[in-house]
Amino acid sequence: MCLLFCPQCSPITMASSIVLLLVLLLVALSLLSVSANLVSIDCGSSDSFTDENTIKWVGDDEFVSGGKSQVVQTTNGVPRVLTTLRVFSTRKRNCYSIKAEKGAQFLVRATFFYGNYDKKSSPPEFALLLDGNYWADVITSATDLVYKELVYVANGDFIEICLAQTKPNQLPFISAIEIRGLGTDMYSHVDAEYAMVHTRRVAYGATDNIRYPSDDYDRIWEPVEGGDGLVKLTNDLHIIDTSVPDQPPAAAFQYAITTSKPSVSISLGTDLPTDKVPIYIIMYFTEMSQLTTSETRSFEIYIDGKSESDPIVPVYGTVTEMYITNITASSSTNISLVATADSTLPPLINAMEVYYVSGPLTGGTDSNDGWYSSP
Ligand SMILES: *[C@@H]1O[C@H](CO)[C@@H](O)[C@H](O)[C@H]1NC(C)=O
Ligand SMILES: *[C@@H]1O[C@H](CO)[C@@H](O)[C@H](O)[C@H]1NC(C)=O
Repeated sequence: MCLLFCPQCSPITMASSIVLLLVLLLVALSLLSVSANLVSIDCGSSDSFTDENTIKWVGDDEFVSGGKSQVVQTTNGVPRVLTTLRVFSTRKRNCYSIKAEKGAQFLVRATFFYGNYDKKSSPPEFALLLDGNYWADVITSATDLVYKELVYVANGDFIEICLAQTKPNQLPFISAIEIRGLGTDMYSHVDAEYAMVHTRRVAYGATDNIRYPSDDYDRIWEPVEGGDGLVKLTNDLHIIDTSVPDQPPAAAFQYAITTSKPSVSISLGTDLPTDKVPIYIIMYFTEMSQLTTSETRSFEIYIDGKSESDPIVPVYGTVTEMYITNITASSSTNISLVATADSTLPPLINAMEVYYVSGPLTGGTDSNDGWYSSP
């Protein structure tokens, strides 16, 4: 792709550039849609379609038995995949089973859009399980979609996603399931017997969600505008080197946030639970313009007022990645970027991912164990 932008490549005519681009696009598309490591399931539907992000969705018939297909009440302006859902009225655990490569690392995303399909204006609450392990309580919304996401290494030949009733008369349902294969060297600082449960993934200063095709792995990076004394920066460069272990999308480095002066720190929201959990936080940085010889930017990660990192010096044109793990934190933990004493410029940040580490996963994926939720 960079061929199109580099001045040394003038022998390539516009026409052949376009052909090249199309070929690259087709290769990328075929990789994405034939890969056994990628499945996008439109729950409650029997049809296949391709969405505006070129993601191919399939109906859910072959992945689940039981349940009933339903359609949300208003489909106007609702993405097609969210217009149908499958609801389960039995109190037994209900599971989707998706073929996977044992030992490979996956991102698993489950999406829930109530859309008043039952005309009761009563969005339910229920439990979500992965391979027989408790994953999350799903509290659905009358107006918004809710999604749960985690990263883990498959321990069997199938990924099993189950829903279970936890409240009387609140029927579990699901709108979409997305499985994305990740490189084995990504997110490598957590042992394979634990899952990384996503709470937040943001691109600071971005204007829209960033996901596939901007992110090869279809992670969703939500935009966070500056706000509250924060200043948005725009990168002088269009092409930067993002080849760090967790392969963030280049689009996440178009913007950054900073503060007005070095003495003002950046406090980072994490969406972590209210109880302390072991965390896995990844931050990404790049310098946004060529600094003059008198300018320096250097800062550290502070957790509850104490420095937890060496000084970070973002580099122009290249991404620096930092991770924090092996500590526990909660929604009230203060995670901040604080300029070092010698820094003439305030701290900045481009993107961040926040996960917490699950309890040890048990391998069991036996869907016939007749587990019933407590009433
Ligand atoms: C969070 O920590 C930073 C850095 O130590 C500090 O400047 C800031 O006042 C703290 N914020 C709160 C709300 O405690
Ligand atoms: C986590 O902390 C323990 C004890 O402090 C240490 O032995 C271990 O090496 C640390 N693990 C990582 C990944 O830093």
